[in-house]
Amino acid sequence: MTALLQVEGLSVHYGGIEAVTGLDLEVRQGERVTLIGANGAGKSSTLKALAGLVVPSAGSIRYDGVDLRTVPAWQRVGRGLSLVPEGRGVFSRLSVEENLLMGAYHRNGATGLYEELERVYGLFTRLHERRHQAAGTLSGGEQQMLAIGRALMAAPRLLMLDEPSMGLAPLMVERIFEVIRNIAEAGVTLLLVEQNARLALEICDRAYVMESGRIVLTDSAARCLDNPLVRSAYLG
Ligand SMILES: Nc1ncnc2c1ncn2[C@@H]1O[C@H](COP(=O)(O)OP(=O)(O)O)[C@@H](O)[C@H]1O
Ligand SMILES: [Mg+2]
Repeated sequence: MTALLQVEGLSVHYGGIEAVTGLDLEVRQGERVTLIGANGAGKSSTLKALAGLVVPSAGSIRYDGVDLRTVPAWQRVGRGLSLVPEGRGVFSRLSVEENLLMGAYHRNGATGLYEELERVYGLFTRLHERRHQAAGTLSGGEQQMLAIGRALMAAPRLLMLDEPSMGLAPLMVERIFEVIRNIAEAGVTLLLVEQNARLALEICDRAYVMESGRIVLTDSAARCLDNPLVRSAYLG
């Protein structure tokens, strides 16, 4: 089976700093894949390169059979490749509903827009209750829901999430992961970056472990959970 996403030799530089070095990664249709690694390993840089938010210094990215090199970020969203960024990036002065509608900005016209909105509200009733409230007044967990909801408004086929549990209370982390699991079960392919490696490995099929910009290990999530090196470095 051909991969939905196929990354070969990806490198990302910021001036003289090499954040990602020759990374190979593959995500097949329907898979849930996690990328784990310590702070500064290059996980966010990898996702940003896939989303088209940073320009790689080397390598190729194929998504759904298309070379993404010349495809701008907004068109990647239009093709079903969506990123929920680290730190959420909600528009704090816009209402919850305006934020959600921003997630569908690449669409032509309103076809399906309100169905999508209803689906997101069905998934996150809290967002529906607060739909007229400014996003900046939401709690951290609600903002994470909003960021995920906004990405869903683009009807993604491959959803990339960068540290969705960051800064959230344990109960909210559980809730967010439940939603992520539901999204995957609805048929969306997942690429998940998460500091909480145990949680990520528990909901994913496969994992890549990244250190200093390189993939140092790739295996099934179940075997990673049992791997002594992974356990000592990431599962504390
Ligand atoms: N905008 C930037 N400018 C300069 N260096 C950056 C920038 N973003 C990230 N870096 C550096 O790139 C490396 C990888 O960062 P990042 O991709 O954010 O890692 P992670 O998400 O795994 O914590 C780190 O050394 C970080 O300091
Ligand atoms: Mg990061």
